[in-house]
Amino acid sequence: MEQRKQRSWAEPFKIKMVELVKMTSYEDRKAALEAAGYNTFLLRSRDVYIDLLTDSGTSAMSDHQWAGMMLGDEAYAGSENFYHLEETIQKYYGYKYIVPTHQGRAAEHIISQIMIKKGDVIPGNMYFTTTRLHQELAGGIFIDVIIDEAHDPDNEHPFKGDIDLGKLQKVVETYGASRIPYVCVATAVNMAGGQPISLSNLKAVREFTNLHGIPIIHDMTRVAENAYFIKSREPGYADKSISDIVIEICSLTDGATMSAKKDALVNIGGFLALNDYSVFEKARNMVVVYEGLHTYGGLAGRDMEALAIGITESVEENHIRARVGQVLYLGNKLIASGIPIVKPIGSHGVFLNAKKFLPHLTQDMYPAQSLAAAIYLDSGVRTMERGIVSAGRNKETGENNNPNLELVRLTIPRRVYTQAHMDVVAESIEEVYSNRESINGLKMIYEPEYLRFFQARFEKL
Ligand code: F0G
Repeated sequence: MEQRKQRSWAEPFKIKMVELVKMTSYEDRKAALEAAGYNTFLLRSRDVYIDLLTDSGTSAMSDHQWAGMMLGDEAYAGSENFYHLEETIQKYYGYKYIVPTHQGRAAEHIISQIMIKKGDVIPGNMYFTTTRLHQELAGGIFIDVIIDEAHDPDNEHPFKGDIDLGKLQKVVETYGASRIPYVCVATAVNMAGGQPISLSNLKAVREFTNLHGIPIIHDMTRVAENAYFIKSREPGYADKSISDIVIEICSLTDGATMSAKKDALVNIGGFLALNDYSVFEKARNMVVVYEGLHTYGGLAGRDMEALAIGITESVEENHIRARVGQVLYLGNKLIASGIPIVKPIGSHGVFLNAKKFLPHLTQDMYPAQSLAAAIYLDSGVRTMERGIVSAGRNKETGENNNPNLELVRLTIPRRVYTQAHMDVVAESIEEVYSNRESINGLKMIYEPEYLRFFQARFEKL
């Protein structure tokens, strides 16, 4: 058969309804930033022009999803939409038992409380803020076993989400398998910059954990995006469908927590998926205490319907190619302008390397927080800090964690912004880069106890 040339990615949708964006003035932004304590999480969205704070719950639903919203079966118990969601998860992800939750951290809470006991350790491929906190609240300690390359923003390893089996082995030798309730494996590792894990690595981790009888719990928040990188980078997968790769990833794990607000294209929703019936039984009982009955788990029937449809759309080839394609487009534009970003470009956003962007600031001057504030001030583009503020404090010593990665995340919502918006974002980053010497650091003046990055306040140094 004739090989047709593959064309450039393009948005695989046309626009049926629009939401007008707000243009802001420099004076307005300056006042808004001061009122927000230089924390982009504390800005009001009406003061934002292009919102790249997060890809979480910010995607645009399709006409099919909106039509599904009208099919909401709002029964307290046994809603039709729950069964549709359950079947869809079984079909596309392959897990047996499902507990719906209102979002990802609720699933993390439940699995942590069930599986982790005081003194346990949980190895994982880099921490995620809420995941680690729930592990700690259950009495556990997170141990990072991601490959060293993941902590180096310039290293171009194609699978920076891979687990270092030597590090994992050492954790087992030091603590013993009985103190490891599970290995936490994330796909498209968020804090590393949206970096994928390879299937060959996941298979090796599976073999190793089988030897020691340790389960694997999968943070599958961005599993389809990870599958896209496997398809495009891992030998042997170019001709496999995204859907087949997703199923293969899930089949190597024993259960999963899902924030459906990302990959699965809904504004709210999540679930815990399990293969072990006894763990499922406990989770199904616990969800009633914290979320709602086990056939809605904090979600309206219509939300579960939109989620079921969103899952099927999330693994479509055209969708995922354009979704990641848009992120790569912005990243490559910034690379071409000499802006220091994390490489390879990740799946859900472009991560600016704030240490290189602002070499005159030390880490205790919060370079990434300062840079996110400067970008907002320049153009009204809202980004977020992923550095020392997000990393929080060491659970045992109370000292600040000092992550090697000090990043600003430009997170791209799915199906929301166009290529021209990406051009405007790049122009603003270039502008800020050319005036980078004028950016001063910040001082933290209010620090909440948990997940401080969300609500901390800062002052200009
Ligand atoms: N795991 C990962 C990898 C995530 O990125 C998130 C959320 C969660 C779990 C928690 O899920 O928000 O539904 O409770 N990440 C968002 C972000 C907040 O902006 O990266 P949630």
